[in-house]
Amino acid sequence: MNQTICRHLLRSSFLVLHGEQSLMSRRLFNSVIHLHRHQIAVFTLRKTRMDRVPASAAGVTRNASSFIHENAFVDGKWVSAASSKTFQVVNPSTGGVVGSVPDMDATDTEEAIKVAYKAFQSWKETTAKERSIILRKWAELCTQHKDELAKLLTAEMGKPLAEAAGEVAYGTAFMEWFAEEARRVYGDIIPSPVKSRRVLVLKQPLGVAGMITPWNFPNAMITRKACAAIAAGCTVVLKPAEDTPFSALALCELASQAGLPPGVLNVVTSSRDHAAAVGKTLCKHPLVMKISFTGSTNVGKILLEQSASTVKKVSLELGGNAPFIVFNSADIGAAVKGLMGCKFRCSGQTCVCANRILVQEGIYDKFVQAVAETMDKELKVGDGFAAGTTQGPLINSKAVDKVQSHVDDAVSKGATVVRGGKRLDGNFFLPTLLSQVTGEMRCATEETFGPVAPILKFKTEEEAVAVANVTSSGLAGYFYSQDIAQIWRVAEKLETGLVGVNEGLVSVPEAPFGGWKESGLGSEGSKYGINEYLNLKYVCMGGV
Ligand code: SIN
Repeated sequence: MNQTICRHLLRSSFLVLHGEQSLMSRRLFNSVIHLHRHQIAVFTLRKTRMDRVPASAAGVTRNASSFIHENAFVDGKWVSAASSKTFQVVNPSTGGVVGSVPDMDATDTEEAIKVAYKAFQSWKETTAKERSIILRKWAELCTQHKDELAKLLTAEMGKPLAEAAGEVAYGTAFMEWFAEEARRVYGDIIPSPVKSRRVLVLKQPLGVAGMITPWNFPNAMITRKACAAIAAGCTVVLKPAEDTPFSALALCELASQAGLPPGVLNVVTSSRDHAAAVGKTLCKHPLVMKISFTGSTNVGKILLEQSASTVKKVSLELGGNAPFIVFNSADIGAAVKGLMGCKFRCSGQTCVCANRILVQEGIYDKFVQAVAETMDKELKVGDGFAAGTTQGPLINSKAVDKVQSHVDDAVSKGATVVRGGKRLDGNFFLPTLLSQVTGEMRCATEETFGPVAPILKFKTEEEAVAVANVTSSGLAGYFYSQDIAQIWRVAEKLETGLVGVNEGLVSVPEAPFGGWKESGLGSEGSKYGINEYLNLKYVCMGGV
C-alpha cells in the first residue's frame, strides 16, 4: 500500500493496515493481475468461487468465505426469493463469480416490510440501554472478524485490501458511535407560557426505515444508516447494491449473533432488473416511514418523488462535484498529499472525492509537476489482494466507459494528458492527471467517479470560490491555504455540507455527513444522525 495514502487514511482514523495475503485470496485469485506503470503483467479472466468452508460457530476461527451467505435475510432467517430466482455477484477485478443471491422483487420487499413492521412493535419498547448493548456487541464481533469482512469486501467490490480493512473499521465505528448515541436521545421540557400547563417534547422512533445503499462502501454506508435507525428504536428493510450484497449479509449474521432480534434488520437482495421495483415498493409503502438512500442524484430524485405519495421523511446522500482548491499560500507538499488521498481513495469512486482541482496561477506548474511525480511513486494499479496495490478496478465496464469519455472530451477541448488517460484490460483505468482543464469540460461539470485528476487554473480567490460554487452539487469542498483570514472567508463561502481545510479526508462518525443543494437531504453520523429516525412529539399537560 502506498505510504502516503496509508498515512492519510490512518490519520483520519479509518484505515487499518493489513498486509498479509491469505490462503483464501491465493486460492481465489489464481488469476492474479498486477498492473503497474501502464503495463498489464497477467490478466486471465476465469470464473472463480470463494472456497467453501462451512460457517463455524461464534468464536471459532473462520475465513472470509464462511461469511458468504447466498440467501437474503428476513425475520432473522436466511431466505430465497419467492420466485426462487437468483443472480450472480462478480468480482470486478477478475470477472470471477463470488456467489449468487436471491433476486427479490416487490413481493419479497412487501413481505420484509410487514416483518419489519411487526418487529417494530416490540423493538420500540426496548430501552436505549438494551439497544446500546446489542450495538456494542455487534461492533465487537465486527472487530473480531475484521480481516474476514475486509477480504469479502475486496472480493465483491475490488478496493485494495488495506482500504477495505479501513472501511470495516470506519463502518464498525458507526456501531460504536450509535451504541453511545442511543442513550442520549433527550427530550425537552419547555417553559410554558400558560401557568396551568407543562410543555414537553418526546422523541420517539418513527417506525420502519427503508434503506438503499451503494457499492462503493458496502459496509460503512450500511452501518452509518442502519445503526442510527436501530439505536433510535426503528426497524430496517435494506436493499444493498446488487454489486455488493455479501458484505451486507455478513453484517446480518453478526447482528444476529450479537442478539439483534429477528425482523429488526432485514436485507432484501435484488439484481439491477428488480432494483427499481424494490425501491418503489419501499418508497410507496404506507408502513415505511422513512427512506434513506446513498447513490446517484438521478435515482435520489426519483425516490424523493416516489416518497411524496406517502409523505415520507427522506434522507439522501447523493452525488458530488467536489472542488479542491490550492491557493498560492498553500503548503504544496501538504496539498499534494491531501489530494492523493482525496482523489485516489477507492480509485476515485467516492461521492466526496476531489472532482475539480483548482490551482492558483502562481503555483500551477509546480503543483502539476509535484502531483505527477507523486502519482508515479505512489500509485499502483492492480488486484485488490495483490501486495502494494493502491488502485483497484472500477466497479464495471460502464464506469470505465464514462471515465474514458470524460478524458476524451477534455482532450478534445484542449486538455493535456500529463499521466495516464486510458483504460486497461478489464475494469481498470490508469490513474490520470489532466492539465489545462477548463470549466466547460465534462470532467469539470459532471462527477467522473474514477481516478482522474483534472487541474484548472485560477487567478483570484473570488474566481475560485465562484467556480467552486457554480455547480448544483454541494457535498464536499476542500482547500489548502496558510492565510488565516482566507481560511475563514473561503470556509464560510463554500456551498458544501463538508469542508476540508488543509485536509483531504474528513469523514468521521462524530461529524455530520450530508450535502447541500442537489447533493442531498439530511445528515448522517454525528449527534444529528439519529434525529433522522425520530419523530418529535409535543405533549401539552394541562390542569397542573
Ligand atoms: C461516499 O463517498 O459515498 C462516502 C464517503 C465517506 O463516508 O467518506
